[in-house]
Amino acid sequence: MGKSLAVNQHILSSTLSLRLNRRGNSFSQSRSSRDLMTEVTPYKRDISVNHTTLALAAERILNEENESLRQACTRAVYTSWYYQTNLTEINRRIALSAQMQYSSMKQQSWHKVQLWQGLKNYLLSDEIRRQFEALSVLGTSALPVGDLTDYKNVLSIMSETYNTATICGYQGARKCDLSIDRDISPLMVNSRDASELSHAWKTWRDNTGKKIRNHFSIFVELANKAARYNGFRNVVEMDLVPYERPDFRQEIANAWEQIKPLYLQLHAYARSKLRKVYGSSIVRERGPLPAHILGNMWAQKWDVNDILMPYPWKPQIDVTNEMVKQRFTPKKLFEVAEDFFLSMNMTRMPHTFWRHSMFEAPNDRPIICHASSWDFCNSYDY
Ligand SMILES: *[C@@H]1O[C@H](CO)[C@@H](O)[C@H](O)[C@H]1NC(C)=O
Ligand SMILES: *[C@@H]1O[C@H](CO)[C@@H](O)[C@H](O)[C@H]1NC(C)=O
Repeated sequence: MGKSLAVNQHILSSTLSLRLNRRGNSFSQSRSSRDLMTEVTPYKRDISVNHTTLALAAERILNEENESLRQACTRAVYTSWYYQTNLTEINRRIALSAQMQYSSMKQQSWHKVQLWQGLKNYLLSDEIRRQFEALSVLGTSALPVGDLTDYKNVLSIMSETYNTATICGYQGARKCDLSIDRDISPLMVNSRDASELSHAWKTWRDNTGKKIRNHFSIFVELANKAARYNGFRNVVEMDLVPYERPDFRQEIANAWEQIKPLYLQLHAYARSKLRKVYGSSIVRERGPLPAHILGNMWAQKWDVNDILMPYPWKPQIDVTNEMVKQRFTPKKLFEVAEDFFLSMNMTRMPHTFWRHSMFEAPNDRPIICHASSWDFCNSYDY
């Protein structure tokens, strides 16, 4: 630790109230870092510091950045939550502006961290070095402000289109306000009419995917552009950074190879069961399973137990009646779930969760009703 490093004064002085030993003259700073930056920039001369001083400076700059990023992040997440639970144009604009502020904050802190590029390797603590690494990928905030606004707008338009899409009922049914959570998802689980299911699957895609299509190409273009500003070839490379594993793709490919034999068997089993119900014109003997008959709009789970259950005569436990008898409410479901997690020694939900969460859809306004959990960036409200 005794060895001294030559460090550009400009970098160290950008941290607050740091006492530096500058060629024997000690000077103490207590003004804001911005004042110091302007004051010190003209010097741009190297000074000699030891590792401890460097570590201290690194920690201070991280603390400062942490706090301002945290506040901006909380505001961006909070306004975005407020918008999604009350979809109005005003709320959308407020959320957008908070996100823009957060982005510009990230840009500023990225600039400060860039100054440390050459010094990172001298930082002795892995933890501090890792935080610098994390702050040195700017993400989409690297876009020029016009592009960034377009990017955020396109995202919020796509999300709103996707989340508020409705379809008409099957075969001339007049109702055209069927929504994914309230009507279509239950239909996917319960209907065994392949044409009705196909109608739901297709029209919902027409009203989401097709309408999003043009926005999506803009999104891809801007996301790749942002990645290039960060020094990556494309957005995939950038998105893989948070996993902190250089061979992440290979690891996933290996995991898939391990699961594949079991998956193939399950797939063949499900296909033969579905063929018995829907016939060979809908479910072919070889090849993929049709997505619309799997009980889930995204075929992400195969929610057709009556068809797939291997031993259908085995009694099943259905707790619905008992739950009705015990007067379960949506909130009670969350309380029971919390008891379960507490019994595994996990942490209690914060009081803000109980106070602010939306457990039931209000019927006085449109919202995004898809279940989601949020990180409000304040280290207690998730
Ligand atoms: C910055 O915040 C993160 C997340 O809350 C925390 O793990 C880290 O220790 C903080 N860094 C500093 C230097 O305080
Ligand atoms: C929804 O947001 C609007 C502002 O756009 C506000 O006037 C209204 O009170 C909000 N509704 C609720 C129930 O919070």
